[in-house]
Amino acid sequence: MTTERRYALPVGQTDWTVNSRADVSFRWEYDDGRESLLRLYEKGKQQQWDATDRIDWSQDLDPENPMELPDQAISIYGSPVWNRLTDAEKRNLRRHLQAWQISQFLHGEQGALICTAKIVEQVPNFDAKYYAATQVMDEARHVECFSRLLHEKFDLAYPISPPLKTLLGNVLSDSRWDFLYLGMQVLVEGLALAAFQRIRDMAKNSLAASVNAYVMQDEARHVAFGRIALRDYYPQLTEAERAEREEFTVEACYLMRDRFVAEELWEAIGLPKDECVAYAAESQFMKQYRTRLFSRIVPTLRDVGLWGPKLRAAFEDMGVMDFANVDAAALLEQDARVATEFDARRASAAGAAE
Ligand SMILES: [Fe+2]
Ligand SMILES: [Fe+2]
Repeated sequence: MTTERRYALPVGQTDWTVNSRADVSFRWEYDDGRESLLRLYEKGKQQQWDATDRIDWSQDLDPENPMELPDQAISIYGSPVWNRLTDAEKRNLRRHLQAWQISQFLHGEQGALICTAKIVEQVPNFDAKYYAATQVMDEARHVECFSRLLHEKFDLAYPISPPLKTLLGNVLSDSRWDFLYLGMQVLVEGLALAAFQRIRDMAKNSLAASVNAYVMQDEARHVAFGRIALRDYYPQLTEAERAEREEFTVEACYLMRDRFVAEELWEAIGLPKDECVAYAAESQFMKQYRTRLFSRIVPTLRDVGLWGPKLRAAFEDMGVMDFANVDAAALLEQDARVATEFDARRASAAGAAE
């Protein structure tokens, strides 16, 4: 059955093409690669994987609570609306909310696929073209994983959420190559890593947890790619050029913090939208969650030298400055390690079954 028939809302209204004319950059010097990027390229080649083999797709989701996430993670948990719901309505909400989230991952991954293909075209150096090419394959695999989860397991999908569409549109419509890295590799992927991590670490359903763990293993390399490329490039820019990047970043960060509230979901399942959005905005759990979304973004920005007064003031205002001291490289290493632990668990479960 087509995706179109699984969408909970009409998808036609989000038909989308972006005018993104940009210069395509050819390079005739093939032998001046940076060691750090070439090493990452080797890693990218060695760590390719096949979603069909590595993930056990025979597992099912739970009909009561597909990914087996705690209800406390639902943004309206404990609200008067939540307390009025029957068990059947709660079941319906869990399924829709989780499908909404995975749908945003899916559409975001398509955005990443397109952005990375553009990086191959636009980036001037060959070491970066090499690496970006491995990432194109990674992103196609991520689209495949989330798409399978929605089609085969949830049997439900949501169109792209308007704030995600705005964010991707802003990234794709800028013709400068570094905006692809900044917008996609640092901001969108940094945000996604924090969101994937919540499912990887909280979901009791092993299919859902393993999909997110394996995607994160790749994403950790992608964030590292953005860090290496921008760390070399941003110090070369003028003050005014860096200020422009900071402005773009501040705007994107507020958008990510304030507008990812699933507005369209509440209406689709017949709940009072304004009440749900207002409750989620004030909920202590959600405030913490929105803060944690920046745990990967803040240290990376500091690391690449995008750390002017305007950006710092915005992060102070958002209460996320503590993340500046997080060891981002250690977190990325941990993401890679956790994925191998999932492999080991599956291997030992297969061994026990024999
Ligand atoms: Fe991805
Ligand atoms: Fe990625």
